[in-house]
Amino acid sequence: MKARAAIHRDFSIGDIDERLYSAFIEHMGRAIYSGIYEPGHPEADANGFRRDVMALVKDLQIPAIRYPGGNFVSAYNWEDGVGPKEDRPVRLDLAWRSKETNQVGINEFAQWADSARIEMMLAVNLGSRGLEEARNFVEYVNHPSGSYWSDLRRSHGVEEPYDVKMWCLGNEMDGPWQIGHKEAKEYGRLADETAKALRGLTPDAELVVCGSSNDGMPTYPEWERVVLEECYENVDYISLHKYFGNKSSDTLNYFGKIEETGRYIQAIGGAIDYVKAKKRAKNDVFICFDEWNVWYHNRDEDSRRVKEWDWPEAPALLEEDYNIEDALFVGGLLNEFIRRSDRVRIACIAQLVNVIAPIRAERGGPAWKQTIYYPYQFASLYGRGRALRVSVDGPTYDCRVADDVAYLDIAAVHDAREGFVNLFVLNRHLSETLELDLALTGFAEARLAEHRVIEGQGRLRETNGPEAPHRVAPVEGSGLLVENGRLSGGLAPLSYHLIRLKV
Ligand code: AHR
Repeated sequence: MKARAAIHRDFSIGDIDERLYSAFIEHMGRAIYSGIYEPGHPEADANGFRRDVMALVKDLQIPAIRYPGGNFVSAYNWEDGVGPKEDRPVRLDLAWRSKETNQVGINEFAQWADSARIEMMLAVNLGSRGLEEARNFVEYVNHPSGSYWSDLRRSHGVEEPYDVKMWCLGNEMDGPWQIGHKEAKEYGRLADETAKALRGLTPDAELVVCGSSNDGMPTYPEWERVVLEECYENVDYISLHKYFGNKSSDTLNYFGKIEETGRYIQAIGGAIDYVKAKKRAKNDVFICFDEWNVWYHNRDEDSRRVKEWDWPEAPALLEEDYNIEDALFVGGLLNEFIRRSDRVRIACIAQLVNVIAPIRAERGGPAWKQTIYYPYQFASLYGRGRALRVSVDGPTYDCRVADDVAYLDIAAVHDAREGFVNLFVLNRHLSETLELDLALTGFAEARLAEHRVIEGQGRLRETNGPEAPHRVAPVEGSGLLVENGRLSGGLAPLSYHLIRLKV
């Protein structure tokens, strides 16, 4: 099967915001406790953070991380997590029916993020609390000194403010499961007033208002219109969340969800444009896709367990074992973000460690990379620069969620600083090799610098685990040729490729 494609040096989508490759971590399950933090573990540093996990995190070069939730944040008292550890209260976390010991709070997390060289993106509680708590939190985090909350931070040993720019105005406030769930207008008003207060303290803050929890919500996309009409001029981003799965064991339909996500982004773009026009506003609002990942392997089982358990501390929860099919999907989804990077400025893989995560760590045991770690790493390392338009002319298929899905899923990024064109390519075909013929206009001197591949045919369900941490890993690819301004060669069925061209 042949698939023709073309890129042109001057036909670009725009500069990619590197925060497209951000992550999310929540106080839930074993993400924080026995994920990144486990005093007493042989790999723990003086602060109790796991060095083995930190090394895997650093290799992802994550630009920003959203914290501390998620559903958790909607009943969280941030003050419980500051001051002497022995005085911190144990609380019941209503979101995940677990015990929160508060041994990690904002100052510990900031220390971890600093060592990992990741910028923090903090969420405020607009569920059980509101504007007052949010403004106190921002004052504690960002104000230098000479006020009650900033001096409290200093008394906790943190002299310098953190100067956090990115703030999320609550989490999934449209969801009836959310503690303090609200109607759209009610939430939009609260978000607007909170935004005003936060900007008073941090004028250059970048504020994220909650969009729908996913595109299947009954209030979607009306929620976005109503919320934005209340707060458009005071916010910078609207959040999108979406989790994916292949419950029906239909691989092509699963991969079609990449296109479905494109429609979701497009629809929210439409809502943004509508409100901007209606308000005659000058400012732009972009998309912050601040929760995305595969979540289905244990989802039903986990929902059942949560209802039954008796407030455990850091229980194993949402610990999905990802397979090669999931890795191919994640690669394709990241391609969609690159193709839509004119709208989507920030995106966060949800989550980072143990809970629906690319990194897993056993309590007292080893840490390893899941299959999805690799496409996320490739995009984060090599997806920085200018996104190029790619025209594709090749075979397509129809599935339940989308029609005319091209078997060839491709994204291209021109990294002019380092002199590379980086291509991320997925062949979604179940059984056919795609004979790629890609015209490289404006890159006459291109030569193949690197080709790595994850092949899935006959092994889609393979995973990594503590007993076989490297079973699934990208290998060197072969069979590609760059000649006369064209890249050509066969892409095996069900394969994902990183192709780097020196230009
Ligand atoms: O990431 C897991 C949960 O999914 C988050 O807490 C919530 O925001 C979403 O529903």
